[in-house]
Amino acid sequence: MTAALLIFLRLYAATAGAHVDFKTQIRPILEQRCQPCHFAGGKMYERLPFDRRKTITRLGTKLFTRIRDEKQRELIRQFLASAK
Ligand code: HEC
Repeated sequence: MTAALLIFLRLYAATAGAHVDFKTQIRPILEQRCQPCHFAGGKMYERLPFDRRKTITRLGTKLFTRIRDEKQRELIRQFLASAK
C-alpha cells in the first residue's frame, strides 16, 4: 500500500505536478546565456532583470525568441505552468 502510494507520487511529480525551481533550474540557464545585459550592471537590467522570477513569468514564452534549445524551453514551460 505504502509502496504503491510512493510510486504514484513519484510518477505524479515527474509529470503534471513537476515543480521547477526558479533559482536552481531557470536562473542558471539565463545566467549562462543572457549575461551581461539582463543582469546587474548590464544595459537591460533596469527594464528586464533576469534574476527576478517576476520578469520571467511576465515575459513568458516571449523568451523563446532568444531561447531555442528545446530542453531549456520545456523547463521554462514547466516553470511558467507551475508559477501561476
Ligand atoms: C548583448 C546584450 C543582450 C543579451 C546577451 C541578451 N539581451 Fe535580451 N535584450 C537586449 C536589449 C538591448 C533589449 C531591448 C531591445 C530589444 O528588444 O532588442 C532586449 C530585450 C529582450 C526582450 C524583450 C523584447 C522582446 O524581444 O520581446 C526579451 C524577451 C529578451 N531580451 C530576452 C533575452 C534572453 C532570453 C536572452 C538570453 C538567451 C537575452 N535577451 C540576452 C540585450 C541583450
